[in-house]
Amino acid sequence: MLSRSSIQLNYSLMFIVTLALVFGALFIGIHQLKTRQLRNEAMAVAEQVVAFRAWIANTGVVWVDHLAPEFKDFLGKRTSGTTEAFYSKNPALATRELSEIVSQTATRATFRVTSDEYRNPANAPDRFEIASLQAFKKDRDLKYADNLEGGYYRYTQPIFVQQSCLKCHGDPKDAPPEVIEKYGDKRAFGYKVGDVRGIISVKLPDVTLGDVLMSVLNPYTLGLIALAFVLNFSYTQRAIIVRLKGLARTTERIANGELDLPLETKPGSRNEMDHVTRAVDLLRNSVVVAIKRLQKNLS
Ligand code: HEC
Repeated sequence: MLSRSSIQLNYSLMFIVTLALVFGALFIGIHQLKTRQLRNEAMAVAEQVVAFRAWIANTGVVWVDHLAPEFKDFLGKRTSGTTEAFYSKNPALATRELSEIVSQTATRATFRVTSDEYRNPANAPDRFEIASLQAFKKDRDLKYADNLEGGYYRYTQPIFVQQSCLKCHGDPKDAPPEVIEKYGDKRAFGYKVGDVRGIISVKLPDVTLGDVLMSVLNPYTLGLIALAFVLNFSYTQRAIIVRLKGLARTTERIANGELDLPLETKPGSRNEMDHVTRAVDLLRNSVVVAIKRLQKNLS
């Protein structure tokens, strides 16, 4: 069917197919770029959390002089000589409160810290987090795990036990009494330096196909694509179609007896259309010679 329709139609179809292929390639590239971008963003968030936790762990806990109404939780309480009381917040607790504050800001990322041995039920890991915990425990060199699920990009990174953590996660005998008081002496103890203690889990809204389309198909790209189409269309029209039609018409007239019709032969041109024109010219000359010879023989 294609071989019987016009070159211009076929060429237009080919152009559209080419465009679709190019877009396909573009989307694969964009998908990879998008994942890398999301991973970088999540990694930056995780690094901030690591730094924040290290700051607290290196000083043991942070003490606050009153409890904000939305953050009533604390680890220990100390009263000094006066009536004033101080409350301590351990790294995990402070991280949880930080993540809650951050989740209410304009930042897209939310994060939390979790573990297979969690002391606080609010920190219980979900399926993806359990899977990445197992992966990190199996492979110490694994730097991160990630995943796209339910419209979110999920990222986890291991938290390793350091010297400063052992006070509360090593031997229960060394632990501050308030830790034992609040969580008992069973959960999340017995760790050694270098153990995978838990993970930092970051969640980012995924970039959807719609978002990608919106940014790819803007008036500028659409304008450029239209321009490419017009350029291709007018070039094939001018360089091939119009010339072919003209040549066909001339050849028909020659065949009908107008043997001295002028043909623009352009000797030496590498253009294929000129080549065909020269071939027709040659054919016409041979016909003229043959006719002359015939006429001579007849007379
Ligand atoms: C002052 C005591 C203290 C120190 C120091 C401490 N932690 Fe914790 N950690 C806790 C307590 C108490 C919890 C209980 C959960 C909560 O409060 O959210 C906890 C919870 C965690 C959790 C979350 C899962 C859970 O059990 O709910 C992780 C992971 C964790 N700690 C890792 C560390 C690491 C790594 C360090 C060292 C950088 C560290 N902790 C230092 C007391 C401490």
